[in-house]
Amino acid sequence: MFSTRSTSLCATALCAFLSFTALSPVAAAPMPQTSAAASSSGSYGPSTSYWLSQSGFHLNNQVYGNTDSSYPVFRNVKDSIYGAVGDGVTDDTDAINFAINSTGGGLARCGVGCNSSTITPALVYFPPGKYLVSSPIIMDYYTQMVGDATDLPTIVGSSDFAGIALLDADPYGDYGVSWYINQNNFFRQVRNFIIDVSQVDGGASGAGIHWQVAQATSLQNIRFEMSTSASTKQQGIFMDNGSGGFMGDLVFNGGMYGAFLGNQQFTSRNMTFNNCQTAIFMNWNWGWTLSGITVDSCTTGVDMSNSPTNQTVGSVVLADSTFTNVQYGVRSAFSTTGNVPATGGTLVLDNVDMTGATEAVVGVNNNTILAGGKTITSWASGNVYDNSATKDVTQGAITSPTKASSLLDGNKNIFGRSKPQYETASSDDFLHSMAEGLVGNGVTDDTLKMQAFLIKASSLGKIAYFDHGVYLVTSTIHVPVNGSSGSRIVGEVWSTILAQGFNNTANPQPVWQIGAVGSTGSAEISDMLFEIKGRNPGAIMIQWNVASEQGASGLWDTHVRMGGSWGSELLLSDCPTTQGASPQPSCQGGFLMFQATKQASNVYLENTWFWTADHDMENAANLQISVYNGRGMLIQSTGAVWLWGTSVEHSVLYNYQFDGVQALFAGFMQSETPYYQPVPVAPAPFTFNSAYDDPTFTVCSSNAAAVPCKDAWGLRILNSKNVLIYSAGFYSFFNDYTQACVTGENCQENMVHIQGSQVSAYAITTKASVNMILDDQFASTPVLASDNRGVYGDVIAYYNTKS
Ligand SMILES: *[C@@H]1O[C@H](CO)[C@@H](O)[C@H](O)[C@H]1NC(C)=O
Ligand SMILES: *[C@@H]1O[C@H](CO)[C@@H](O)[C@H](O)[C@H]1NC(C)=O
Ligand SMILES: *[C@@H]1O[C@H](CO)[C@@H](O)[C@H](O)[C@H]1NC(C)=O
Ligand SMILES: *[C@@H]1O[C@H](CO)[C@@H](O)[C@H](O)[C@H]1NC(C)=O
Ligand SMILES: *[C@@H]1O[C@H](CO)[C@@H](O)[C@H](O)[C@H]1NC(C)=O
Ligand SMILES: *[C@@H]1O[C@H](CO)[C@@H](O)[C@H](O)[C@H]1NC(C)=O
Ligand SMILES: *[C@@H]1O[C@H](CO)[C@@H](O)[C@H](O)[C@H]1NC(C)=O
Ligand SMILES: *[C@@H]1O[C@H](CO)[C@@H](O)[C@H](O)[C@H]1NC(C)=O
Repeated sequence: MFSTRSTSLCATALCAFLSFTALSPVAAAPMPQTSAAASSSGSYGPSTSYWLSQSGFHLNNQVYGNTDSSYPVFRNVKDSIYGAVGDGVTDDTDAINFAINSTGGGLARCGVGCNSSTITPALVYFPPGKYLVSSPIIMDYYTQMVGDATDLPTIVGSSDFAGIALLDADPYGDYGVSWYINQNNFFRQVRNFIIDVSQVDGGASGAGIHWQVAQATSLQNIRFEMSTSASTKQQGIFMDNGSGGFMGDLVFNGGMYGAFLGNQQFTSRNMTFNNCQTAIFMNWNWGWTLSGITVDSCTTGVDMSNSPTNQTVGSVVLADSTFTNVQYGVRSAFSTTGNVPATGGTLVLDNVDMTGATEAVVGVNNNTILAGGKTITSWASGNVYDNSATKDVTQGAITSPTKASSLLDGNKNIFGRSKPQYETASSDDFLHSMAEGLVGNGVTDDTLKMQAFLIKASSLGKIAYFDHGVYLVTSTIHVPVNGSSGSRIVGEVWSTILAQGFNNTANPQPVWQIGAVGSTGSAEISDMLFEIKGRNPGAIMIQWNVASEQGASGLWDTHVRMGGSWGSELLLSDCPTTQGASPQPSCQGGFLMFQATKQASNVYLENTWFWTADHDMENAANLQISVYNGRGMLIQSTGAVWLWGTSVEHSVLYNYQFDGVQALFAGFMQSETPYYQPVPVAPAPFTFNSAYDDPTFTVCSSNAAAVPCKDAWGLRILNSKNVLIYSAGFYSFFNDYTQACVTGENCQENMVHIQGSQVSAYAITTKASVNMILDDQFASTPVLASDNRGVYGDVIAYYNTKS
């Protein structure tokens, strides 16, 4: 979540326009008059058979931590209490905003003046229709906006629309201060919409969505409609900053920029741009994975040449993409001589069909760097370490990475599968947790009922629906995978599994075990959250065992959160930060957040955030806390593994460990070292466990150096092959809560350790680690960060080992 940097990079005229608009007060409109509590059924009722729209599908039980029993989680904007009309004529702005911000009579949602809170979630549903808006729809914290997946609703901006964008995930209030700290703006979704800006300001200006977000956020299945006039300044997405995040299955038609992007890191998959002047304007980043990008009839595909004399873009990986009827594929400011900063504007192209582009890559003056008219197999601008410990400043073709065929789809692209939304299912296809006797109040032990519920759903071939709630679990839940359709599990605004009493550190146990060890079948899990109550140092939050067919199983928009939220007993009052303090035993989070075991195969993760809390989300100022969690993500599977848009933060021994993997794709991967380290040094407060192949930091000399060595690994890869990474960022921002080491670029000694493994990695960024990569085959020569200084972190374009 963290950034020490103020990113005032809004350099373009358009951006200035938007910032100005953002600061202009929008006249407050009268609120719909009503005092009754909201209900999920209304006079409009469902207008399609889409299961999510059905009245009665949503129980609106009392939310964990929320004292207001009438607080509605589910809101249908057309319910009479809110009164959206959706006829394309009536101004629905206030009705929609009221549907989002309604309290139901009690606790306010987390809006202006509230940095974050987990106890006022909302699922705001839009039936089919055309919703005219004249000022921004403001998404409070922890809001999911979901359109009918079977008949997408349109949000259309009026010709006199005033404001930053039709949808706003982080409004600028007075003096330009945003409502939410952009790097802490978690837990949001927008899916299944058409967002139509084309009529705004006669097509001259306007944006679809202001998406200034961090982890656990997603945009999915959205079509943006903009003006195609040559003078238009419209854009689909305006993203000024944040620490995300995932977006996918988006279409952008028209506009000056399909997407104006700026963020620490992001994963974007399956996006199509038609008739935009520039498909993607990359304003700034530390790193970005762009995959499955289709650009058709745009002058420019990706412009990442911002501020050429001192670049603002760290890196871009562009893969499995197609450019047609395009003049300039990518515009880059990178130069092999005199580049500022040294690795700024690092770019990798892999499997990019530029047959329909005149130029594949141009410089700031549109000078040809790489001609179009062909498919670019593997190409890079930046520092390359190709089977060598010595850097090669490159702008040209590179050795193609090793790609295991099991990772590819039928078109030889990296396989991807979007979050299932079960559009064709009827409400009868679901089995509800609360109808099966689960309580979900965070207090009653739901272990036995949950086990029975999942077995029943699987054996009947039903989708297991966890009604919004917090479900206490005190021993392992065995998720069945071998029924006729395995397990299909869906949460409602992150229905939560709360683990308690997993305290056997010597014999750690899974909280959810996906299939028995060695099982075959399938499991699809989406919109769920796993967290803990108090100390659980023997908890493996999710253990993935099932061997599946490609695409048969996955974990989508599902997160692990160790502390920092209401009821976790790991909050500011429980686990305050104290420099130099010994860890409190009561603040020992868990053993391991996610494990994929050896026989698991076709393990698919997309948009997952495995977070050991660094701050208290219920604290108004988001103050830091000290929660100690042993390990982040451990992948031991010998079958194919995909990690699309994953983030693992603040575990003690490592954030990511790939141990014996045979075929793995990851991009973007992001991690942060715990802020308290090196007090204590790893593995304290835990001990090494050889059964889990823990790193033992033998590379660290016994005489402790000034720079901490026994800090969490961002990534450790051992005894593995076919590891394919399309961009990663591993960051270290603190030493015992102080930050002098950030400017010194030496918060820790090492970040990535490769041992006996074959790896092909694009665009690896590390922050404030002296050594970026230690590879045992080049034992005495680490990849030095000082050789690879970038925009914020240190960046290498390509690290490739012998195959
Ligand atoms: C976010 O980006 C905007 C526009 O580039 C800039 O004005 C603002 O200062 C940034 N905020 C932070 C906290 O970096
Ligand atoms: C909720 O939305 C209504 C309608 O736009 C607005 O009048 C009201 O001020 C909002 N309330 C809060 C607390 O944001
Ligand atoms: C890409 O997104 C479109 C919707 O825009 C969807 O129809 C298609 O299935 C997606 N393809 C993949 C490979 O996810
Ligand atoms: C580039 O910009 C950064 C951030 O504004 C600044 O700290 C740095 O000194 C600049 N470098 C050069 C060489 O101008
Ligand atoms: C490069 O091409 C773009 C798109 O046509 C144009 O807007 C820009 O002015 C050109 N830059 C230069 C330096 O000619
Ligand atoms: C471990 O958990 C069990 C079950 O919740 C509890 O009875 C026991 O006191 C706990 N032990 C410790 C050392 O926390
Ligand atoms: C399905 O898996 C369960 C749990 O591992 C096991 O008890 C059961 O025998 C399996 N059934 C079949 C038909 O394989
Ligand atoms: C939000 O957090 C920031 C950073 O701690 C703090 O400066 C700000 O005052 C907080 N906002 C509120 C409303 O407490």
